[in-house]
Amino acid sequence: MKKIVSMLLILALALSLCVTAFAEDAKTVGIAMPTRSLERWNRDGEYLEEQFKAAGYGVELVYSDNDITQQNNDIGNLIAEGVDLLIVAAIDGESLTQTLADAKDAGIPVIAYDRLIMNTDAISYYVSFDNYQVGVLQGQFVIDTLGLDLNDTSKTYNIEFTAGDPADNNAGFFFGGAFDTLKPYIDAGILNIPSGKTTFEQVATPAWSTDTALENMQNTLASFYSDGTVLDVALCSNDSTALGVAQAISSDYAGSNQPLVTGQDGDIANLQNIVDGKQTMTVYKNVSDEAGVTLELGKAILAGETPDAGLLDSLSAEAAYDTESYDNGTGIIPSYLLVPFVITKDSLQTLVDTGLYAWDGDYLVSTAATT
Ligand code: BGC
Repeated sequence: MKKIVSMLLILALALSLCVTAFAEDAKTVGIAMPTRSLERWNRDGEYLEEQFKAAGYGVELVYSDNDITQQNNDIGNLIAEGVDLLIVAAIDGESLTQTLADAKDAGIPVIAYDRLIMNTDAISYYVSFDNYQVGVLQGQFVIDTLGLDLNDTSKTYNIEFTAGDPADNNAGFFFGGAFDTLKPYIDAGILNIPSGKTTFEQVATPAWSTDTALENMQNTLASFYSDGTVLDVALCSNDSTALGVAQAISSDYAGSNQPLVTGQDGDIANLQNIVDGKQTMTVYKNVSDEAGVTLELGKAILAGETPDAGLLDSLSAEAAYDTESYDNGTGIIPSYLLVPFVITKDSLQTLVDTGLYAWDGDYLVSTAATT
């Protein structure tokens, strides 16, 4: 009996030593998200935290209220705490250079999450969607829905653009993808832009603000459409801006047609607008998959590997390994790019099939806890 008790004691001691060793070994990941005020980042933060924790890592998750100084401080604190890996979705892609130099000095690898971080050689990798393709999908949707044909200039349409935050490196890619796709029709006079606002700078929306997009669209409608000019398309780069634009159309547009309104993300309010006919489509990006790709990449980096195209084999989501498109000013940042796709009223069930959304009557709700 004594023998059994002492054997059990030795076993318990060995087990507790193992657990302690494991706990000491557990690495911690610092995750810096821009803001809770734009819906998608709540989902990104939740999925990243959930997936890294499930894989046995410690997680420190911070949100910085769309405030650049705060994000620098928050990341500085994560570095001081000694996290082993940083995952950063930048508020302003140009403003993290010094802070990330500190991360590099401390030997902490950094993954730029969704938004490329500029002018720093501290970034090892970039995980995002094919941002240019997001805009291409929006432009192509307009071409297909209106049935535009370069050989038929008899029917013309009016379009206005709303783009994103100039501080976000993605915003130019979204606008460029859409504008380049539609340019042949603009040049042929099939698509006209009554406001004359044809450049990214003229249609950008700081902080991706819904209120600013609303005001800008109200001004455009007042200045160029109050005489009965028909608006056929409001091409919006994402859902937060589409929300404001759709509101301006509801309240301030005199015409009787419902213009096509594009978006991106699949935010809940926009999915409701799609059901209600106030928004026509959204380009959906499965951010649970984006978190999953980041996890596989993070695991490989923390294991001391130098991931390349071979990582694609371990991913459950479709992605491309890109070593050409994203130069952050210090050179090309190797990128894993996921694939966006179009959602309309007719394909909302596709979102429910992902398990990330559920029907609530006629509308969709997110199954993520924080949204
Ligand atoms: C993201 C978009 C999002 C926008 C505003 C961009 O960087 O890629 O998905 O709509 O930020 O949050």
